[in-house]
Amino acid sequence: MPDPTVVLKGGRVVDATGERAADVLIGADGTIAAIGADLIAPRVLDAGGCIVAPGLVDLHSHLREPGQEDAETVESGSRCAALGGYTAVVAMPNTTPAIDSAAMVHEVRSLGATALCHVAVSGAITVGRAGEQLAPMAEMAALGVRIFTDDGTGVQDNRLMRRAMEYASGLGVRLAQHCEDSALAAGGHMHEGEWSSRLGIPGQPAEAEEVMVQRDISLARLTGASIHFQHLSTAGSVAMVRAAKAEGLDVTAEATPHHLALTHALCAGFDPVFKVNPPLRTDADVAAVVAGVLDGTIDAIATDHAPHVQEAKERPFDQAPPGMLGLETALGVAVTELSKQGDIDWVQLLALLSWQPAAIAGLAEHTGTLVEGRAAHLCVIDPTSVWAVDAAQSASLSRNTPWAGRRLTGRVRHTVLAGEPVVVDGEATR
Ligand code: DOR
Repeated sequence: MPDPTVVLKGGRVVDATGERAADVLIGADGTIAAIGADLIAPRVLDAGGCIVAPGLVDLHSHLREPGQEDAETVESGSRCAALGGYTAVVAMPNTTPAIDSAAMVHEVRSLGATALCHVAVSGAITVGRAGEQLAPMAEMAALGVRIFTDDGTGVQDNRLMRRAMEYASGLGVRLAQHCEDSALAAGGHMHEGEWSSRLGIPGQPAEAEEVMVQRDISLARLTGASIHFQHLSTAGSVAMVRAAKAEGLDVTAEATPHHLALTHALCAGFDPVFKVNPPLRTDADVAAVVAGVLDGTIDAIATDHAPHVQEAKERPFDQAPPGMLGLETALGVAVTELSKQGDIDWVQLLALLSWQPAAIAGLAEHTGTLVEGRAAHLCVIDPTSVWAVDAAQSASLSRNTPWAGRRLTGRVRHTVLAGEPVVVDGEATR
């Protein structure tokens, strides 16, 4: 056994195999040295009253580097992630330039090398995310990129998407789609419905998302490819994914914390902090997304952490960019919202926040079972801590959180990355 350095003491270990009261001993080599009773090490981190779990894994983080370093950097985004309990995030490729080549994969990975969490890189499906020509996915896959997306936009051209699926299948990688038909969504700044009519803000209909979900399910059936649906927001999308899974297609899906909790009514104050793509929808859509999370239709809760500088988010609603912060609040929002449906099933919730997204992203070190020898990527969660979100306290370089002032239940106490406590008692250690 490697020399122990740290022990997480007095917690309830929750992983894919269930729950048990146990200490977790971390070795000098950054792996779990032992799990059991009365373990000792030179450094003790108190996990009393807490859940000790595999670190959270985010499938959908916009880290903005290179290109928009005033909004976020890989370092600041990874700090938000660690504070939120994440030990790995998948960086979206809508940087400037886009991550659409081996050189860009190398660049963002090297920025992530000293980050406070693992930074896995997703590659673009098309060159420059322009939707015209397939990106060199093979050269990125050869570097270990496992997930490809044009996120921020969906691949519009049906034939190109078919070819992308065939290409991806051959490489054994997964495509992730931001489902938005650009013609149907054109000019829309919020959900098209009762509130867009009242406010006089042009909307995007639910169908702008749903026609692309439907098309990609058809193309997945045709090609046998696997497809991951990003940030599903409508009842119709959830129903289609449920049916596709029942049919046996290799589809997976994520939902964001904001689509589990917030509706288009929040746009009534014309505050662009509530502007996001896909837009906040109706009560019925929120209920359907929650139901999809609870019945397993949705595999992952993913943040879509999308920082924007204050100046941009202070523009009028129709001129402000869409997007919301999410990494520091995702766990608290998920606990707060899902506990309204009954007692939290922690194995189910952590599956959605940790090992299911890890499996979708192909992150083999982030498995759901905590055993001796596994890399010590861990988070310690106080499930009963109630806290108020203070935008000014965020580790992000941006301030666009829709949760400001809200009280959330469930907070991260410690985060351990490869054996290093990067967050202790809610504070980053470096
Ligand atoms: O609201 C959004 N913001 N949705 C996206 O798909 C992209 C993201 C961003 O990059 O700001």
